[in-house]
Amino acid sequence: MTLRNKLNLDNAVELARAEERISKQRAIQLWQSDELKNFRAGTFETLAYIHKRLFEEIYYFAGQLRDENISKGHFRFASALYLAQAVLSVEKMPQESFEQIVAKYVEMNVAHPFREGNGRSMRLWLDDILRREIGRVVDWSRVDKNDYLQAMERSPINDSEIKALLAAALTDKINDREIFMKGLDASYFYENYYAYRSEELK
Ligand SMILES: Nc1ncnc2c1ncn2[C@@H]1O[C@H](COP(=O)(O)OP(=O)(O)OP(=O)(O)O)[C@@H](O)[C@H]1O
Ligand SMILES: [Mg+2]
Repeated sequence: MTLRNKLNLDNAVELARAEERISKQRAIQLWQSDELKNFRAGTFETLAYIHKRLFEEIYYFAGQLRDENISKGHFRFASALYLAQAVLSVEKMPQESFEQIVAKYVEMNVAHPFREGNGRSMRLWLDDILRREIGRVVDWSRVDKNDYLQAMERSPINDSEIKALLAAALTDKINDREIFMKGLDASYFYENYYAYRSEELK
């Protein structure tokens, strides 16, 4: 049930732990190096670069569009056949205001470009847009995880919940590393896998 990975791990919990540890180290480097300055905020190229930096030691598909169809809960993300077109139309969406930026984030989530790691790479991508366009970032420590996930599940139909949730957590502390790193927590991932594992052990 685990994705094929460069670490040759076949235990889901071990993979989740390694993934979180490595991607957080890479995110710190990304943050310290200022590499994103060389990329335009809000493009797919930037998102793909973030994804590659976080996951290239773990997954062969890091930074690359998925070629499988995937779903979560009851929601089926963009068809792999049309994914390249979908991400290009999302990147053309405007990003001048908070409202526009979150609408764009929601559409990129509907596309879900990668086989795994969309949530984490997209939260950094979102913060990069917010920081450069409106001088704010999300303080993810102030976003309740369950509320976030529910709002994201709802967002393809109605994005008002996710907008309200993120608006309430905006901060102007754009140079705080701890705040940047909070977006990298993979707690749902953990919870899901622990749940999965305990069923397996029954
Ligand atoms: N049912 C759903 N409908 C729409 N979007 C969803 C749904 N469930 C989850 N999401 C979004 O997908 C993201 C998870 O995607 P994925 O598993 O590829 O990334 P991740 O980095 O492993 O996850 P996480 O966000 O949990 O750290 C969530 O953060 C959320 O934004
Ligand atoms: Mg995941």
